[in-house]
Amino acid sequence: MGRALADLAWPPGVQPIWAGRQEADITDAAALTDLLTRSAPDMIVNCAAYTQVDKAESEPESAFAVNARAPGTIAAYCRSAQVPLLHFSTDYVFDGSKDGPYTEDDPVAPLGVYGASKVAGEDAIRASGADHWIWRTAWVFGPHRANFVRTMLRAAMTNSRLSVVDDQIGTPAPTPGLAAAVLTLMDRWRHESAGAPYGTYHVSGDEPVSWHGLATAIFEAAETVAPDWPRPELTAIPTAQWPTPARRPANSRLAGARAASVLGIPPIAWRSALPSIVAAIIEDLRETSP
Ligand SMILES: NC(=O)c1ccc[n+]([C@@H]2O[C@H](COP(=O)([O-])OP(=O)(O)OC[C@H]3O[C@@H](n4cnc5c(N)ncnc54)[C@H](OP(=O)(O)O)[C@@H]3O)[C@@H](O)[C@H]2O)c1
Repeated sequence: MGRALADLAWPPGVQPIWAGRQEADITDAAALTDLLTRSAPDMIVNCAAYTQVDKAESEPESAFAVNARAPGTIAAYCRSAQVPLLHFSTDYVFDGSKDGPYTEDDPVAPLGVYGASKVAGEDAIRASGADHWIWRTAWVFGPHRANFVRTMLRAAMTNSRLSVVDDQIGTPAPTPGLAAAVLTLMDRWRHESAGAPYGTYHVSGDEPVSWHGLATAIFEAAETVAPDWPRPELTAIPTAQWPTPARRPANSRLAGARAASVLGIPPIAWRSALPSIVAAIIEDLRETSP
């Protein structure tokens, strides 16, 4: 997500200040607060997170330090400096038992440590008294770093058949679309007095799909942008045949109506975002894989 924001063409008058792990380990509250104080931003976007859903089950301390305590530290700074915070959260705050898309008012019930740590981060931000937007997003993919699209394309290099879970449904969010939505939010916040009301919003993809459906779309996109890329045979399997340390919600569809009507940020068209992302990943894999 942070890399996608860095890819944006920023409008005149906006000067982004980037901070990564080299600038501060966000679990070091003193270093983080010092960094924020020295940077003195007008707004903070927190893209940092512990995102390894399965590993979190055996590293709850690390997950909570990054996903719960650090957002609390950032929010405390935001409260004292009177600057707003945009923070990302996740569909994995829900248990997936709802019949239909989740709204912002549905009760959270995380199934694993990662989701629980993100809930704790949301709670810490709300309790801080800072002005904030919490954006829950889902199934994030983009040209950079590890994500499902890269995993599928890389797996196809060495496997003619892939089994992909078909009974988990979500609303995938491409990072370029999310980054554009951040720009929209900033623009409204800067220029319209009542343009970007604070609160919790669901900002993710427009079309529900299973992991198997997403994999199918990935290889369809690959066929258009890189016809020579191997296209494996995809087999739909139930979650029960793909055991993982962390349980995942069967339904993590996020309803985007609130963000659309209140912020003017509609659900993101993920299918049309796939080809350019697939092309970028394939180019990267061609360069980096032996
Ligand atoms: N990925 C998804 O499918 C997904 C789904 C729903 C919601 N989200 C949420 O969306 C947001 C963005 O996720 P993403 O996919 O962009 O995650 P990501 O690719 O895993 O990036 C997370 C970033 O946080 C940094 N980070 C982790 N611990 C840190 C620490 N202690 N100090 C400083 N930096 C640290 C990482 O740096 P290093 O590279 O050095 O570790 C990395 O740059 C997160 O809030 C995530 O929970 C993601």
